[in-house]
Amino acid sequence: MDTYPLGQFSVNRIGFGAMQLPGPGVMGPPRDHHEAIGILRRAVEWGVNHIDTAQFYGPDVANELIREALYPYPDDLVLVSKVGAFRDDHGNWLPGQRPDQLRSAVEDNLRTLGVDRLGAVNLRLHEGHTPGEEPVRLEDQLAEMVALRDEGKIAGVGISTANRVQVEQAIAQADIVCVQNAFSLLDRSDADVLDLCAARGIAYVPYFPLGSAFPNLPKVTDNPAVRAVAARLGATPAQVGLAWLLAHRENILLIPGTSRPAHLEQNLAVADVRLSDGDIAQLEEGGVTS
Ligand SMILES: NC(=O)c1ccc[n+]([C@@H]2O[C@H](COP(=O)([O-])OP(=O)(O)OC[C@H]3O[C@@H](n4cnc5c(N)ncnc54)[C@H](OP(=O)(O)O)[C@@H]3O)[C@@H](O)[C@H]2O)c1
Repeated sequence: MDTYPLGQFSVNRIGFGAMQLPGPGVMGPPRDHHEAIGILRRAVEWGVNHIDTAQFYGPDVANELIREALYPYPDDLVLVSKVGAFRDDHGNWLPGQRPDQLRSAVEDNLRTLGVDRLGAVNLRLHEGHTPGEEPVRLEDQLAEMVALRDEGKIAGVGISTANRVQVEQAIAQADIVCVQNAFSLLDRSDADVLDLCAARGIAYVPYFPLGSAFPNLPKVTDNPAVRAVAARLGATPAQVGLAWLLAHRENILLIPGTSRPAHLEQNLAVADVRLSDGDIAQLEEGGVTS
């Protein structure tokens, strides 16, 4: 498997996103606990050494599954989490950007994963802020992330759901190792941030690489051009969507999310799917660009 640097670590370009492991709406226990544990173990057995998670997936569920499945962790496994949000009792995603909230979120991740240091932590930004509170300046959020890194709790700082100006600020202030933004064949609106990261040697980790599990977003696997190329190559539509990302820029690290062993197997086999220049042109013309 090809690798790319994620800060001080070299990780395989095909990783795993843990968001689909908890129950419906990313809340509560998995559909099948045994199967979820098996997915995590199989992913690592088959070469995944980069897992993306969050304490607010479940909450706690994704991290506790990772710990149960994989602890003691292989030396080369890089666990990446994100902070800046929390869930209320109804499962709503709420911003938690104050420095004290970022710090306690990092502590929660360390505790639930059972580690002293996280490979990287993404500062997850939000458009809104907590009603009744002043918006927290990005500068203050980044300063707390840098402090956590200086204390050794985080190896690398990343940023997520950030526009170009915010990414530039994060590069200047926090020397970030990764950007995690939404990007796929169907949504290439973040291309300028991707190019900025490529030029700076910063890993770009697209979320929603297949269009997400949320029913209101278009799915890469439904796209006619994707389906046509998949049929021609004898691959699955998901593999073609992921192979396009791998071919698109060398600094893209994949973290597709799945709760199904068969889908995991397909996603890990993407390295074997080779797209020709003609395939790529067909996909880029047929993919809806926003
Ligand atoms: N920073 C952020 O704000 C943020 C936001 C969202 C996600 N993330 C991270 O990014 C990761 C990826 O995003 P995501 O999981 O939301 O969306 P995604 O990877 O684009 O799509 C997940 C959906 O695709 C399906 N799927 C996966 N593999 C498939 C295959 N081979 N064939 C058909 N369907 C397949 C999954 O269903 P099955 O379960 O049935 O396979 C699920 O419904 C997450 O797991 C999470 O770690 C970060």
